[in-house]
Amino acid sequence: MVSDRLFNSVVAGSAIAAAFDLGLFAAVKQGEVASLEAYCRDGSLHLPTVRQIVRAMAVEDIVVEDSAGGVRPGTNFDEVYASKGYFMWLVQGYGTMLSQLSSLARSMPDREGAIERDDHYVALSGEDYGRHFVDEPFNRVLSDCEFSVAADLGCGSGRRLAAVLGDRPSVRGVGVDRSPDAVGIATETIKTAGLDDRVQVRLGDAFNLDPDPVLEEVDLVWSFFMGHDLWPRERCVASLERLRKSCPSVKTFLMCDTYRADVASMSDMPIFSMGFELTHAVMGQYIPSPAEWEGVFEDAGWRCEGRYPIGIPNSEVFWLTPAPGR
Ligand SMILES: C[S@@+](CC[C@H](N)C(=O)[O-])C[C@H]1O[C@@H](n2cnc3c(N)ncnc32)[C@H](O)[C@@H]1O
Repeated sequence: MVSDRLFNSVVAGSAIAAAFDLGLFAAVKQGEVASLEAYCRDGSLHLPTVRQIVRAMAVEDIVVEDSAGGVRPGTNFDEVYASKGYFMWLVQGYGTMLSQLSSLARSMPDREGAIERDDHYVALSGEDYGRHFVDEPFNRVLSDCEFSVAADLGCGSGRRLAAVLGDRPSVRGVGVDRSPDAVGIATETIKTAGLDDRVQVRLGDAFNLDPDPVLEEVDLVWSFFMGHDLWPRERCVASLERLRKSCPSVKTFLMCDTYRADVASMSDMPIFSMGFELTHAVMGQYIPSPAEWEGVFEDAGWRCEGRYPIGIPNSEVFWLTPAPGR
């Protein structure tokens, strides 16, 4: 029955998010759960709850409970291990919003004030699915790119900046984010990576930056998963035009975002996309299609030299260069 399966999927989604947050996924992967009872005792966890978390995942063969009371990977473990961040993103990042979906579907006086999302879990989950689905394709794109000063716009946790610059000792960098929380985390990430002598982290609107000597030298800009925040269209065009002025030496702009999934049939809908579009619709955030993006690049004076899919559904890196004569 479709209802049985749907209902159990909702339960399993919460269980996957919780197992990730509790460290249970990592423990099962390392073969450290020979006894669930001992695991819960050692970690001060509530055994009846954790047992049901395991059971909800066992239904989908993500984990297997063995006869000795241990938990080990099931047939679907590796696949779900890689995508566990998406579940955390939906359940823990947007869980409150989803539980209030019917209220938020009604027009009400302080609708915007009633919208809640948990930025901590959105950042944590983004790091995880970024590690599994973005790093490798992005590194491939970067291997074709020469640069000496890089800027990460909307740098979030700063993990990508630290990873890219950690491998390139002669490159300097700057990360910009408008969220004080993100800037705090990114500053710490850069410091821990020992990069604070050549990477700066700034608080501010990345597409409305004041003139600055470091920005004048930036030859590579990248921006991940914040492009849609720049819409509506006119605002987005103006923001991308301003970027060329605040980074006058820029040669390459790698813009990566998730776009609208105009799938032919709902059964073709991959993981993440429907949740991404639903949550952004609630927040009143328009999600453009690739064709809409290409029109914006052109109007803002950027030439799209290539498009490179990454592992996140309906997401690509657009390789942009300043259009000559603009
Ligand atoms: C979805 S997160 C992505 C973070 C990071 N780029 C990553 O890939 O993990 C989007 C980030 O962009 C930041 N952001 C959105 N609009 C911004 C703007 N106009 N200027 C600076 N930061 C912005 C948010 O604060 C958030 O940290």
